[in-house]
Amino acid sequence: MAPSSSCHAAAVLLLAVATLACHFSVLVVATDVECHCHGANGNGCRGLGINYGTVADDLPSASRSVQLLRATGAGAVKIYDANADILRALAGTGMPVSIMVPNSAIPSLASSRAAAEDWVAANLAPHIPATRVAYLLVGNEVLSNRAIAGSTWRSVVPAMANLHRALRAHGIRKVKIGTTLAMDALSASYPPSAGAFRDDIAEDVVRPLLRFLNATGSYYFVDAYPYFAWSGNRNAISLDYALFQGAASSRYVDPGNGLVYTNLLDQMLDAVVAAMGRLGYGDVKLAVSETGWPSGGDAGEAGANVRNAATYNRNLAARMSKNPGTPARPGAKVPVFLFSLYNEDQKPGAGSERHWGLYYPNGSRVYEVDLTGRRSSYPPLPPADDTDSAPAWCVLGSKAAANETAVAAAVAYACQQGSGTCAAIQPGGACHEPDMMDAHASYAFNAYWQQFRGAGGTCFFDGLAVTTTKDPSHGSCKFASSLD
Ligand SMILES: *[C@@H]1O[C@H](CO)[C@@H](O)[C@H](O)[C@H]1NC(C)=O
Ligand SMILES: *[C@@H]1O[C@H](CO)[C@@H](O)[C@H](O)[C@H]1NC(C)=O
Ligand SMILES: *[C@@H]1O[C@H](CO)[C@@H](O)[C@H](O)[C@H]1NC(C)=O
Repeated sequence: MAPSSSCHAAAVLLLAVATLACHFSVLVVATDVECHCHGANGNGCRGLGINYGTVADDLPSASRSVQLLRATGAGAVKIYDANADILRALAGTGMPVSIMVPNSAIPSLASSRAAAEDWVAANLAPHIPATRVAYLLVGNEVLSNRAIAGSTWRSVVPAMANLHRALRAHGIRKVKIGTTLAMDALSASYPPSAGAFRDDIAEDVVRPLLRFLNATGSYYFVDAYPYFAWSGNRNAISLDYALFQGAASSRYVDPGNGLVYTNLLDQMLDAVVAAMGRLGYGDVKLAVSETGWPSGGDAGEAGANVRNAATYNRNLAARMSKNPGTPARPGAKVPVFLFSLYNEDQKPGAGSERHWGLYYPNGSRVYEVDLTGRRSSYPPLPPADDTDSAPAWCVLGSKAAANETAVAAAVAYACQQGSGTCAAIQPGGACHEPDMMDAHASYAFNAYWQQFRGAGGTCFFDGLAVTTTKDPSHGSCKFASSLD
């Protein structure tokens, strides 16, 4: 249909201000439904949305961060709370913003309309309309956390309903309410047509959620990471298929309905579509609240490198700019939020957790990516330096030295795990000298990590530890390596 080509043409003619050009053409053609320039977020000529997470101690100010995220071509932004500094920094930008209610607030918001009104009055109302809030997400992957099953799961939808009323009471009508769920809300996702929600949540939580989303015209927000699906099944899934560049021979045909898949993300999204359909809500819209690929990780975290991260995100942006939908929903507009703006140094877990960003905290880019998906050429990428081929060790990081109390507590923890984990740093042991906290900490962190890595142990220690490829062994003191 004409609007798509005219939109592209306008962008090309007025290349200096492609975004404005496309907005202009949208206004002219009035019906914008098929406009390719509409991008994944249905917000005019805008690129992928981006998650602005702040689990770090070294990030730039909110206003600088807003400049950085706009420089990526991001078309929307999502934050993990209702941080007033960030919402103020976004005022007047026109950027659609998604904000989040913390999981811990859900029970009280569910049980009290007054609490919901207070939450809206304190966190949201002061920023509207200067800041363009688009989505209010009630909780983050609540159904993945079994520790809050009793206290919170069944409160999610009542909290959403109370917030919905509170928004109305404030005359706020444009904000859609949702909640983000991880892929583990499904008990089956392969083949996609077999997608089904877990039995423990399907009737009590998901059915009322879908009823709410359907009735309010909102979205099912899913955090969908082909990286994790691929890294857990590397023998069965090709890397190129996960990176949106599978050959024709790697297409997957769903035996349940004959739909043809060219990439892993589509498979995951259609599993959610099938699961919703199984509960009678096959028309609820889908949004991807998080996706992405890590640019680095620990030894053994295959595929976490700059080359793959850039490839995934560039291909995703280019693909979504054309609103392809999925095989089960061709042409559907799916808002997508990339994870994430920054590498966040305080995120616990494996090394890859601290390598999702497009930017380092100093504002340098980790790699080039244009989230509008319109850039067609980039400088060459570094080779895929898979971290599992080189030996690695876990040592005390440079930031840690300042806090001896914290280091001592972390060493005590590491040494209490397993038996004899820290024998070598005891008096008489090969690594006792030099008898200094820093040296002992590196030994203890490494001994712990090498022993428990396979069982999920991480080189983190509240941000005190880092991995290195430089062997810290000295003299007769040998540090085990990841390849031992
Ligand atoms: C979903 O919402 C639409 C529009 O309001 C309505 O017609 C339909 O019956 C709803 N679906 C279900 C399963 O309730
Ligand atoms: C920013 O930090 C990264 C990672 O530490 C580093 O490689 C890069 O050189 C830094 N850039 C500047 C301009 O300091
Ligand atoms: C040092 O670490 C301890 C324990 O983690 C913490 O309570 C304390 O606030 C830290 N001190 C400084 C100066 O950061």
